[in-house]
Amino acid sequence: MKRAILKGTGRYLPPRIVTNEDLTQWMDTSDEWIQQRTGIEQRHWVPEEGGVGTSDLGLEASKTALDRAGWTPEDIDLIIFATLSPDIFFPGSGCLLQHKLGLDSTPALDIRQQCSGFLYGLEIIKAYIESGLANRILLVGAEVQSTGLNISTEGRDMTVIFGDGAGAACFEAVDTDAEVGILATSMHARGKFSDSLMTEAPASRENPRINEAMMKANRHYPYMDGKTIFRQAVTNLSKVAKKTLDQVGISKDDIDLYIPHQANIRINQFFGESMKLEEGKVFHNIQRYGNTTAGSIPIALDEALEMKLIGAGSTICLLGFGAGLTWGSVIYRFPE
Ligand code: UT7
Repeated sequence: MKRAILKGTGRYLPPRIVTNEDLTQWMDTSDEWIQQRTGIEQRHWVPEEGGVGTSDLGLEASKTALDRAGWTPEDIDLIIFATLSPDIFFPGSGCLLQHKLGLDSTPALDIRQQCSGFLYGLEIIKAYIESGLANRILLVGAEVQSTGLNISTEGRDMTVIFGDGAGAACFEAVDTDAEVGILATSMHARGKFSDSLMTEAPASRENPRINEAMMKANRHYPYMDGKTIFRQAVTNLSKVAKKTLDQVGISKDDIDLYIPHQANIRINQFFGESMKLEEGKVFHNIQRYGNTTAGSIPIALDEALEMKLIGAGSTICLLGFGAGLTWGSVIYRFPE
């Protein structure tokens, strides 16, 4: 049977580091508040003057992933680009990345599942590879959040959380009888809460799509009902993880490392407690990067591999929750 096997990962964080202390020059906040409520100590942002888009971050992460996979760009059958912050309104960042990789006609698919984007991408990879539609797929999760934030006290609840960054992963079809690769996926969405976490403008349902009144009302900045999202996340993450464990027929303790989306360290600690997981089984790096949305899971995966927390023979569970609402879980096993 054809299995989707991970061949290489990469990450890229723009060099500009913004600490919690730095944020206090623009808004009424404190390092103590941010660390206590979210676990975040710093995040990376693109240059203030602009000029660096989501596909630029994706390109750097992709170069590392391709290099580690031993692929050239020409080896790619399909690019999947997950982001909520595309370089421009359209076309998608996947097409821009394809061009930056020097490719001419390789298909590129953008997906818009926010914090769950990388997970939805993995489900697409499983379907494409196991059905024979593609043999080599590059999946990128990347965000430039900082240029879309309200960097003032008014927007502090959102602004302190988000970081910019990208992660990339190369998956290849391998014919094997072994139980390896992307073993299980479970994706979900709940559109009735779409306005609990959104950036509303520019909006095609408005004419013009954006105007001064909309900007005065801050409708071009992200809005979040943090408590609703927090509640929904903590009730659904363990349920969806169990669903994928059941699909594979393994127990929670058979997972070597859980790599959740990094939205808030408290959400992930709550997940660990509700699953009764041993200390160290849930990966955290939100302290250094903040919430990089579609970038967070592949960045964490790349770091966990580099730190040798996981490797040949490991079984991991990737999971996440975010705007849409969308959420999901994926179980992956590395070949021996
Ligand atoms: O990745 C996408 C998915 N997103 C999430 O999963 C995020 C889920 N939600 C959360 O992580 C939390 O709800 C937040 C971290 C966003 C907020 O934490 P909270 O404990 O829910 O705080 P809150 O919004 O209830 O605000 C508590 C207080 C308020 O002041 P009052 O009304 O009690 O006087 C806020 O105005 O904290 C104030 N506040 C801040 N103070 C200092 C809000 N933001 C800040 C800030 N600095 N940055």
